[in-house]
Amino acid sequence: MHYAPAADRYNNMTYQRCGKSGIQLPAISLGLWHNFGSIDNFENGRSIIRHAFDKGITHFDLANNYGPVPGSAEENFGRILKKDFTGHLRDELIISSKAGYTMWPGPYGDFGSRKYLISSLDQSLQRMQLEYVDIFYSHRPDPNTPIEETMGALHSIVQQGKALYVGLSNYNAEQTKAALAVLQSLGTPCLIHQPKYSMFERWVEGGLLDVLEANGVGCIPFSPLAQGLLTDRYLHGIPAGSRASKPSGFLQESEVTPEKIEKVKKLHALAQQRGQSLAQMALAWILKDKRITTVLIGASSVAQLDDNLYTLKNTSFSKEELDAIETILK
Ligand SMILES: NC(=O)c1ccc[n+]([C@@H]2O[C@H](COP(=O)([O-])OP(=O)(O)OC[C@H]3O[C@@H](n4cnc5c(N)ncnc54)[C@H](OP(=O)(O)O)[C@@H]3O)[C@@H](O)[C@H]2O)c1
Repeated sequence: MHYAPAADRYNNMTYQRCGKSGIQLPAISLGLWHNFGSIDNFENGRSIIRHAFDKGITHFDLANNYGPVPGSAEENFGRILKKDFTGHLRDELIISSKAGYTMWPGPYGDFGSRKYLISSLDQSLQRMQLEYVDIFYSHRPDPNTPIEETMGALHSIVQQGKALYVGLSNYNAEQTKAALAVLQSLGTPCLIHQPKYSMFERWVEGGLLDVLEANGVGCIPFSPLAQGLLTDRYLHGIPAGSRASKPSGFLQESEVTPEKIEKVKKLHALAQQRGQSLAQMALAWILKDKRITTVLIGASSVAQLDDNLYTLKNTSFSKEELDAIETILK
């Protein structure tokens, strides 16, 4: 069926500047780590992407290894772009990809060598049928490759026109500082950093966010819902079809512990007092920090996406609410 994007798609989304750059990103971005692979229902994924764009989500996050099978999320996304995002719609999209985790056998399909990053991006572009990505990331730091080599590869990729901007993911504060210095010296500033951050995972508060702010780098936290734990999904056990129930899901059943669910139930009650779902409160809690550019969510249905989009109706917290959250999380 032909797709015509909603005419009012820019009316209800908030866009925030990414660090000190020319790019603005939607307050909510969509990632294709789960639910868009070759094992998933293509039409479901397609309807989520279309709906996201209709609601003003302009940023879609991918990586070489997303699937399963690895690579298939990029292939499917490429098919969706070809079918639905015709004409000049590509120019309304910020598409990212990454390399850094295991992608192919042998010594050149993993970590941070120049060889890996450049050949992996070439493969990603082929899978997505694109000439360039908007953001290309080093997906994780590589303890055995000089930072000059990894950052040099990112710089070359931009020089070659295969990416417009570059980013770092999973680098700690010290590694980030070192990488930013190299990128700066090469004349390719870092646009954005992608760390894991949620109410359950707060390492970024211990220095990384300060480094990003001081250097004018944006921040896009991933797994802000702790893969679904910070929603109503697991309030009454592990439902069929949920990420924790699937063998391919990265969330293990063993991570859905009684202690966590106890906290989730208390957070859920607090969210209800605020007139929000727990998912909305968890996303708002991250967006309250002005150093955050956008939260990077996942969704397995259009209904979940809509629930999450509703977050933007209320992203402020009273001191009492923040204290109550801290008490629950302790
Ligand atoms: N850079 C990295 O190393 C890295 C690592 C991981 C992820 N990421 C990026 O971050 C993106 C998001 O990660 P994530 O998928 O873990 O994020 P998340 O938003 O924490 O979790 C998404 C999952 O939570 C559930 N969910 C979402 N909204 C819900 C709602 N309103 N109500 C109930 N359940 C809801 C769904 O699970 P069900 O499937 O159970 O419905 C959904 O698949 C990825 O797609 C990827 O782009 C990056």
